[in-house]
Amino acid sequence: MKFFVDTAEIDPIKELAATGLLDGVTTNPSLIHKSGRDFMEVTKEICSIVDGPVSAEVVALDHDTMMKEAEVLRKIADNVCIKVPLTVDGLKTCKALTEDGTMVNVTLCFSANQALLAAKAGATFISPFVGRHDDNGFDGMDLIRDIRLIYDNYLFDTEILVASVRHTNHVLESAKIGADVMTAPPKVIHALFKHVLTDKGIEGFLKDWEATGQSII
Ligand code: E4P
Repeated sequence: MKFFVDTAEIDPIKELAATGLLDGVTTNPSLIHKSGRDFMEVTKEICSIVDGPVSAEVVALDHDTMMKEAEVLRKIADNVCIKVPLTVDGLKTCKALTEDGTMVNVTLCFSANQALLAAKAGATFISPFVGRHDDNGFDGMDLIRDIRLIYDNYLFDTEILVASVRHTNHVLESAKIGADVMTAPPKVIHALFKHVLTDKGIEGFLKDWEATGQSII
């Protein structure tokens, strides 16, 4: 499963990129706002740090303006992936861009039927929002299971990008179901490293090592 980080903050992106774990980045207008940075400038900087896809979202609601915005965004770097909402105009834009060889991430997916439409429109990625789905009384991971089944039934190439990931169990379940990608905030990715027995083990080994009175360097 590929790991994307869901942020527009440069420091955590650099830190995760250095671990070799990072396959891409997702941003959205709220994350750009949170970063306090200029959209074009920060997207360009992120694209220079990460080789994989960097999602940059259009904000227009009509197809013609979405295409104009996408034209500006895709010039930022070769690894920009245009993010469009799951609407009729969004999918028209998805079809036009993918036919032109541009990567497209269809976002704000909350049903397997919507995911089916996105795949038929040629989306590179579909982003089902599991956390927001859970928040509204549904099971986000059931949605991922349904999409996996449908995409496998018809051998769609569209990659399932699990989004709105809130905790490490979302990551574990995504991997068990066979999602292609998950995007999570830096704190969730860092939480994946943690285990109480790892910390306890290090503490014990260090205590015994100190007692030997030796040093490696
Ligand atoms: C990713 O592409 C989405 O924009 C993001 O995961 C949304 O997450 P949220 O529901 O925590 O805002």
